[in-house]
Amino acid sequence: MAISIKIIRTPQSRIHLCDFENIEFGKIFSDHMFRVDYVDGSWINPSIIPYGPISIAPSLSAIHYGQSIFEGMKAFKNEAGQAMLFRPIENARRLNLSAKRMGMPEIPEELYMEGLKQLVQLDKDWIPTKDGSALYVRPFMFATDDYVGVRPSLNYSFMIFCCPVNSYYPKPIRVKIEESYVRASTGMAGFAKAAGNYGISMLPSHEAKLEGYDQIIWTDGHSHEYVEESGTTNLFFVVDDKLVLTPKLDGNILNGITRDTCISLLKDKGYTVEERKIAVSEIIDWCQAGRLSDCFGTGTAAIIAKIATIGFQGKNYELPEASERVISNFLYKTIYGIQTGKIEDIHNWSMPL
Ligand code: COI
Repeated sequence: MAISIKIIRTPQSRIHLCDFENIEFGKIFSDHMFRVDYVDGSWINPSIIPYGPISIAPSLSAIHYGQSIFEGMKAFKNEAGQAMLFRPIENARRLNLSAKRMGMPEIPEELYMEGLKQLVQLDKDWIPTKDGSALYVRPFMFATDDYVGVRPSLNYSFMIFCCPVNSYYPKPIRVKIEESYVRASTGMAGFAKAAGNYGISMLPSHEAKLEGYDQIIWTDGHSHEYVEESGTTNLFFVVDDKLVLTPKLDGNILNGITRDTCISLLKDKGYTVEERKIAVSEIIDWCQAGRLSDCFGTGTAAIIAKIATIGFQGKNYELPEASERVISNFLYKTIYGIQTGKIEDIHNWSMPL
């Protein structure tokens, strides 16, 4: 069935206020946003409206009980000026997995895709083209019951807004292996892109910042012996420039779309990629033996975040210079090349609009 989306255009575009040469991540929003509401068991009134504040009740259940999930993807322009989305259907599917875990309704993929495509097409002029930039797209769903009491909300809103961005991490990052706080453990919601998973990371990452780190690496909630993911990305470790390892999807970590993209590209190139439990002790041994040739985070916002320093139990381990990183440089160039249509997309990851 065709989905009809009501469109109310902004009377006054703000695009002239955006300095596309100096974009700060997450601070500028494009002209429009998509919204659809879940009421009485149905998604109703899909509309694209000017970006702006929304009205909510103080008793909004998402604020009190945390039913709030989100996604992140990026849109690019190819050389012909056509807007291209990178692996958007995977984002729709992952949002629905998060929804299920959080007791929220799933959104039909066609509705998600139609809202997304029409919004990005309408705000296409906001897609920056400077090297390294993109239009970051943020779909999210939250509980809207005006009700105090712990039970799944009956009403929800799903929305999408966009922001032009540059790279999330402008330079290689310093990370600390976290051994006290826990992000997720068996049976929890680690795989979900739930707002609460980020909320609980704020204090530990702030404490790490005070110690001079940019981010933390979470370890498992049982023994703190195995690494899981960083506060903003999945993780990859490269030993002797040959063997690539990444923590396996065990329900505690996010099933990253960039993570999956990297695994495919590395396998295409003939690398061995092991998805398994990775012990902190192994990482420290590789560092001490000078064998950790590359280490990086992967995520939509960051694409590839090279890790310069790993801190563990008060000691810092320095990794090779960013320019010498064979694998992370290959991955960044290839992924960004495919996203912007400059490199052939043999996996059909890009969706031109
Ligand atoms: C993303 O990579 O899209 C995220 O949601 C993480 C955040 C650093 C923006």
